[in-house]
Amino acid sequence: MTYAHILGTGSYLPEKILTNFDLEKMVETTNDWIVERTGIHKRHIAAAHETALTMAEQAARQAMAAANITPADIDLIIIATTTPEKMFPSTACLLQQKLGISGCAAFDLNSTACAGFMYGLSIADQFIRNKTMKHALVIGSEVMSRVVDWNDRTTCVLFGDGAGAVVLGASDKPGILSTHLHADGNYKDVLSLNVGLGKPMDVEQALFIQMTGNQLFKLAVNILGDLFDETLTANRLEKSAVDWLVPHQANIRIILAMAKKLNLPLERVAITLEEQGNTSSASIPLALDKAVRDGRIKRGDMLLLEGFGGGLAWGSALIQY
Ligand code: ACO
Repeated sequence: MTYAHILGTGSYLPEKILTNFDLEKMVETTNDWIVERTGIHKRHIAAAHETALTMAEQAARQAMAAANITPADIDLIIIATTTPEKMFPSTACLLQQKLGISGCAAFDLNSTACAGFMYGLSIADQFIRNKTMKHALVIGSEVMSRVVDWNDRTTCVLFGDGAGAVVLGASDKPGILSTHLHADGNYKDVLSLNVGLGKPMDVEQALFIQMTGNQLFKLAVNILGDLFDETLTANRLEKSAVDWLVPHQANIRIILAMAKKLNLPLERVAITLEEQGNTSSASIPLALDKAVRDGRIKRGDMLLLEGFGGGLAWGSALIQY
């Protein structure tokens, strides 16, 4: 049996930090409101020269170094990003060129929003499991600060920039045990970024994230609860088998509800939200990389990863690290 094993992780965060106190000077909000309702204290913001591509490259190189492989070993690059360098060529193709590995498969997942990393991981897993490919780079990279309306207090306090990456490699030791993907277009209006070529629109509005936060909150809690049940049942495992929850970092109250659902103490949840905000498709690999690098997540641990976002789209993976 061949598994996709996580060989290495990497991340990149821009130097500039925007605190809740900085935001108090920009919109009608308070540090207390943001901390109490979201759990976020600060977030990183990309400088003018930083893009989804530059951040993805940094995270990818770090992940390859951790995996002890070179760019020449990579068969597939997937970049999940709602904030790509361009419509096309894909950010993944641009990264491939920077890495000097022309020929390998490379594409972006642009519209799976915060669930993008889970979709990317699942696709790469299929290719490795069926022995078509040996090594894949799966990256989430986002400059959310460029699609946030800095006059809208209901969204601008939530998001941050950054990139996270994993290198998957074929192994006969257990790695990714299962992945589970879902979507429901009936909720298309709950969270959207309407810029596109579909039909004429109010360009000003289309350039920014639109979100009905409280509806999304309730949906997320229900959807993720069912997703955990589905993931554990598929593997015939009890909740107690899970060592670590590595969730999408949208809201501390959602994360707490999910930890409770799994009977996991908060010390067993990889959380970066306080320091990084919601970095969309980058949030899961960023949280994973942090917990791996500081030694909390160890080889052999059972990880449950979950993400949800615009679409709605959502997904999970059970992984023996
Ligand atoms: N500062 C102060 N007050 C605020 C702010 C703010 N930054 N934002 C909203 N408020 C006000 C509202 O205007 C409202 O005021 P009103 O009662 O006078 O109308 C009040 O606070 C309550 O607003 P709610 O939206 O009901 O607040 P809620 O407790 O639901 O928190 C939040 C809002 C944080 C957005 C929450 O709903 C949430 O986290 N939702 C989920 C978001 C999410 O999961 N996103 C993930 C996907 S992201 C992606 O895919 C790209």
